[in-house]
Amino acid sequence: MKLLDQLWREYAAMNPQVAAIHGLLAAEGETIVNDHVALRTFGDPRVNIEVIARPFVAAGYAAAGAYRFAEKRLIARHFVHEDPALPLVFISELVLEQCSPGLRARVDALLAPLAASTLAAEALAAVGRPWQVSFVEVEALRAESEYAAWLACFGWRVNHFTVLTNALKRRQALPELLAFLEGHGFEFNHAGGAIKGAPALGLEQASTLASAVPVAFSDGVRAVPGCYYEFARRYAGADGRLFRGFIEGSADRLFESTHQR
Ligand code: NI
Repeated sequence: MKLLDQLWREYAAMNPQVAAIHGLLAAEGETIVNDHVALRTFGDPRVNIEVIARPFVAAGYAAAGAYRFAEKRLIARHFVHEDPALPLVFISELVLEQCSPGLRARVDALLAPLAASTLAAEALAAVGRPWQVSFVEVEALRAESEYAAWLACFGWRVNHFTVLTNALKRRQALPELLAFLEGHGFEFNHAGGAIKGAPALGLEQASTLASAVPVAFSDGVRAVPGCYYEFARRYAGADGRLFRGFIEGSADRLFESTHQR
């Protein structure tokens, strides 16, 4: 799928961890299979999950699971394609009705000036950041929502791709894979434990901490946490089929991989 290829190129270009981790795994003869891609957006009817999902649905993806993260004021859906070679697509949105009037006004100030052609873009998911914003403004958003701050910094792009470790020959087990990558200097998100989920739940996940990347704001260039890389191992349920959903308690802590440190 062309859109996924484009999102991958832009993600890999912005996240230096990707090429480095691929290099380490390729040196061991491994090939990488993507489990899922994750996108973020604001819960505004102009740009919500439904809008971001449009090009995926047009390409044959169908809505599957629905998720809620009360404390972070997020909801999410995941989308599945009948071609098992295509990754799952996980799209979350910030529920603006649950945010302060101040945050809602700040988000509206980003969205209101956008051209109709931008909002109608077939692939809003790959538009990037179509607004100018100051670092001061981003920090004001961060005071209430790290998620809103990340979106203001980066706009619409993939937040993370995910290595399906089932498809690795040697490093399927997450504890060993993490030890290997930590030994090469990569930092992982330990919020709620380095490995989220459990075999009995059908899914184990872990993620790097997003590296800080330079971003141009209207009041100067600052380094802020960009994208992270995730690892997932899936397990078969009682029906013998691999679990292909997500776990709210795990995803809740994975969102924290882009928090300011
Ligand atoms: Ni994920």
